[in-house]
Amino acid sequence: MADQAILTAEMLESIQKVEATRASRIGVEPRRMDADEKDRLLKQYHPDYKDDGFATLKMGPNKGEKAPVELSRLLQANSRVLGKEMDLNSPDVDVDVLVIGGGGAGSSAAIEAHRGGAKVMIVTKLRIGDANTMMAEGGIQAADKENDSPQRHYLDAFGGGHFAAKPELLSKLVMEAPDAIQWLNGLGVMFDKASDGTMITTHGGGTSRKRMHACADYTGAEIMRVLRDEVLNQGIPVMDFTSAIELVKDDKGQVAGAILQNMETDECLVARAKVVILATGGAGRLHYQGFPTSNHYGATADGLVLGYRAGANLLYQDTIQYHPTGVAYPPQLFGALVTEKVRSVGAQLVNREGEAFMHPLETRDVSAASIIRECSDRGKGVPTPGGGFGIWLDTPLIEMLHGEGTIEKRIPAMLRMYLNYGIDMRKVPILIYPTLHYQNGGLEINADCATPAIGNLLVAGEAVGGIHGRNRLMGNSLLDIIVFGRDAGKTAAKRCREVSLGAPTLAHVEAFAKELKEAGIEEGQASPLLLPPYARRKNR
Ligand code: FUM
Repeated sequence: MADQAILTAEMLESIQKVEATRASRIGVEPRRMDADEKDRLLKQYHPDYKDDGFATLKMGPNKGEKAPVELSRLLQANSRVLGKEMDLNSPDVDVDVLVIGGGGAGSSAAIEAHRGGAKVMIVTKLRIGDANTMMAEGGIQAADKENDSPQRHYLDAFGGGHFAAKPELLSKLVMEAPDAIQWLNGLGVMFDKASDGTMITTHGGGTSRKRMHACADYTGAEIMRVLRDEVLNQGIPVMDFTSAIELVKDDKGQVAGAILQNMETDECLVARAKVVILATGGAGRLHYQGFPTSNHYGATADGLVLGYRAGANLLYQDTIQYHPTGVAYPPQLFGALVTEKVRSVGAQLVNREGEAFMHPLETRDVSAASIIRECSDRGKGVPTPGGGFGIWLDTPLIEMLHGEGTIEKRIPAMLRMYLNYGIDMRKVPILIYPTLHYQNGGLEINADCATPAIGNLLVAGEAVGGIHGRNRLMGNSLLDIIVFGRDAGKTAAKRCREVSLGAPTLAHVEAFAKELKEAGIEEGQASPLLLPPYARRKNR
C-alpha cells in the first residue's frame, strides 16, 4: 500500500481491509435491490424524506405544497425592486429575446434564437460559462447505437424518475437526443471516439444500454467551451456580472422584460423583451439540510424565485438530487463531484470493512440513501477529521480490471484533482459521501418550453421541473440543457414575431408584497439571493 501522508491512521487501517478483499470482489456484484427494498430505504434515509428539511408554502401558485426550507424562504420573500425608482417606459435594453443565464441551456437558447432571426441578449450574473454545465463531468446520454433506442432510453429514465416525469417532456428529451449529440459534434465538441471514429459510450446508474457519450471526465467543460465560442462567434451580446432581479409584466399579464442589476455597482437597468427565457440553473448553493454541494457559486435558484413571484407554477420542488459520490476527504475538496463515471469504469463502493454493500450502478437516490445508511445505522463509515464519515470508492480496482493507465486515460480530471492534495487514486481508494447536486424540480413547462400560466415566459435547463420526474439519471441533464435550450430558442424566435406588448408594470410585485403581509410572513431578506451568504462582496 502506498503511504499517502494525508490519510489518517484509521483510514490507512481500513484501506488494508479494502485491499484484502479487492481480488475477491471482482466479478461478484451485490444484487440489485427490489422495488420494495428501495422504497423502504429511501423513506428511511434519503434527505427528501426528512420532514424538518421542508416547509409548507403559505402563498403563491404552489400554496399548501412542500418545498425545502431554504427555498421556501426565498420564494416567500419581498422583491429587491421594492422602493426603487424605475422608468419602465424608457428601457435601457430593448430586445426580442432576453435570455437570463449564461450556462449551457441559456447559450443553446441564444444560439437558436439568433439563428431564427431574433435580436437576442444573454444576461448573466457571473460570466458566460460560470454555470453547472461547466461542472458536469461524466457524460451526456443519447440512444444512438444499434442495440439501443429512444424508447429504451425513455423506459430507463421514466423508471429511474419514479414514473413521475411529464411524458411529453421526457419523450422530447429522448427523441431529440441523437440530434443533440450530432449538433454538438458539428459545433466542435471533442467526444471520446474509437480509432474508426465511432463514439465511445458507457453505462451510467440506471441505464440498460451503454449510451453515455463523454469527453473524458470533463464533458460539461468541453461542451460549455464550444457553446461559449459559438455565442461569441455569432456576435450575440452578453451582459456579464448583471443579474435579473425581477420580471416585468405588461397590463395584459404577459412577461415583457426584466429588471437587471449590475453586480458591482448595484445600478438597475430596465430590459424590455418580447420573450424571456429563464435558464438560471440550480440551487446547490442553498445547501439544503446543511449538505455541501457540487454546484457552481451562483446556483441559488434565482429563476424559480422570479418565475414564482410572476405567477408561474413549480413542479416537484420538493425533490432534490444528492449525488452519491461527493468528496468526503480531503477537506479542501469537501462536496466536490466525483463523477459517476468512476463507477462506470469499474470502481466499487465499499465500507470500512472492505465489503461491497450495494450494486455500483443503482440510481442516484438509492445509492445516496445506501451510503447514508452505511455511515449512520450500520456504523460502517470511515470517520473523517472534520467529524463526518465517508465510504470508500475503490479506484485501484479500475486498473486491476482494465490495466495500468486506464485512470489517466478515462478519468484524468479526477486523478489530477486528488493528486493536487497528495492522494493517488491509482494506489489508494478515495473517501466519498453524498453531496447536493441537482434540483429535480423547478418551473413547470409544456412541450414548447413555455410556462402554461404566463405568456412570453419560457424556461430551459435545470430551472425546469418535470423532465426527469422525482430523480434524474446521470447524463440526462447535459442532454436536457441542449434539447430544451435549443427548443426554447427556436420557439422564442417564432413567438417574438407574434407578440405585441402592452404597458409595462411591476404591479405583480406589489400584489405579492401585499399577499406576504396578509399571510403573516415576516419580512426577511429580499430575494432572489444571487450569491451564497459566504460570498465576499465589497462594501456589503
Ligand atoms: O457523475 C456525474 O458525472 C454527473 C453527471 C450528471 O449529473 O449528469
